[in-house]
Amino acid sequence: MELSVVGAGHVGLVTGACFADLGHSVMMVDNDAKRIANLKRGILPYYEPGLEELVERGVRERRLRFTTSIKEGVATCTILFIAVGTPQKATGEADLAYVERVARAIARHLSGYRLIVEKSTVPVQTGQWVAHTIRTYLKRKQPFDVASNPEFLREGTAIEDFMKPDRVVLGVESKRAKELLCALYKPLGVPIVVTDIKSAELIKHAANSFLAMKISFINAVAQLCERCGADVQQVAEGIGLDRRIGRSFLDAGAGFGGYCFPKDLEAFINISEQLGYDFELLKAVRSINEQQKRSFALKIQRALWVLKGKTIGVLGLAFKPNTDDMRYAPSIDVIEYLQGEGARLKAFDPQVTTEAKRLFPKLMLCQDPYEAARGADCLVILTEWNEFKELDFKRLKRLLRQPLIVDGRNLYDPEPLRALGFRYVGVGRGG
Ligand code: UDX
Repeated sequence: MELSVVGAGHVGLVTGACFADLGHSVMMVDNDAKRIANLKRGILPYYEPGLEELVERGVRERRLRFTTSIKEGVATCTILFIAVGTPQKATGEADLAYVERVARAIARHLSGYRLIVEKSTVPVQTGQWVAHTIRTYLKRKQPFDVASNPEFLREGTAIEDFMKPDRVVLGVESKRAKELLCALYKPLGVPIVVTDIKSAELIKHAANSFLAMKISFINAVAQLCERCGADVQQVAEGIGLDRRIGRSFLDAGAGFGGYCFPKDLEAFINISEQLGYDFELLKAVRSINEQQKRSFALKIQRALWVLKGKTIGVLGLAFKPNTDDMRYAPSIDVIEYLQGEGARLKAFDPQVTTEAKRLFPKLMLCQDPYEAARGADCLVILTEWNEFKELDFKRLKRLLRQPLIVDGRNLYDPEPLRALGFRYVGVGRGG
């Protein structure tokens, strides 16, 4: 099938590259000329495991092409995905200016039937507005459909999430749109949920908010565990094996971050307000997360008594492993607090460098975990990168000024570390 994807960001590029790999002919459109020029040379705008190979193969086999011209994108396809950014406005609502601009451009160049699919995370009723905008700006009457196909991919595992999703959600309102999208996704062999457009739009925000709620729930339980001497990981195991609850997204830690959860949660609270409903539950999810990040920073302070003049080694800056993304990462809040209290910080992250330098000019970036530990009063874990799991702890103990580990991702088993002479502080692990 001939596909176009407008927006070569995280969702758009993965979508385009994966569809090309499945044998479709894909035109990627982005108005960022530098990004397109780089992509043509195989340079990706961000790190995502496996994506470089996929893009390289797509380009080599001429199934994946790039352009800055939306006209070209509209001209060459049957299905056009809108995957442009929907950043957060100061009010918390999603900024739909890019989506609207794309809808207008589509209208200008439309000639013959096209199926326009929202892939960006958008508030409910956006589909309606996209259709209205296209109709309004069309030069002469043309047949088209609008559909919603929300994406559930996670950074770091985006390709697998695309190729083997738990389900595909299709919000459609015509037989033609349904048939086209079902045919496109059928080869994946996964359940396809067909809904109306508004329900599909709601599913995306509801799913992300629900997952954020699970994390805040377990983080609140972690607070209780710390106060009464219980272990949150055992509690998570005990409740998670109940199939009605499920074990995933029940890992307590220094709070959730990333470009999706905080933004989508905020947007969903906002959408609810606009629809006349006060979604108090989600406000609590947001506030528990803020408290969790703060409480983690205070945990480090308690372990060190006074922060001023102390050196702290940080392992992990990305909001989660296997990404170079630091947007809304809990590490930002924690570093801000510790530096604000006068601590000197050294950090190592396998992927994040440029953004950390920009945000924290005083942060010393290290080449490996051992350099971050050298001379530090404490080692703080903020991202559970695999390579932090098996460190040479004897060496770390020699390098640290104080053998203290504050583990914001409960990455380590406390007992062996304590046996080696470390003071170990986790999250929700009995204080
Ligand atoms: C999320 C959704 O999972 C995905 O479906 C959607 O399309 C985009 O948003 P992503 O932001 O890539 O994906 O990351 P995810 O793996 O969901 O983690 C989000 C945050 O929650 C991270 O900061 C992570 O550390 C935190 N988290 C996750 C926890 O604190 N505990 C958990 O148990 C799980």
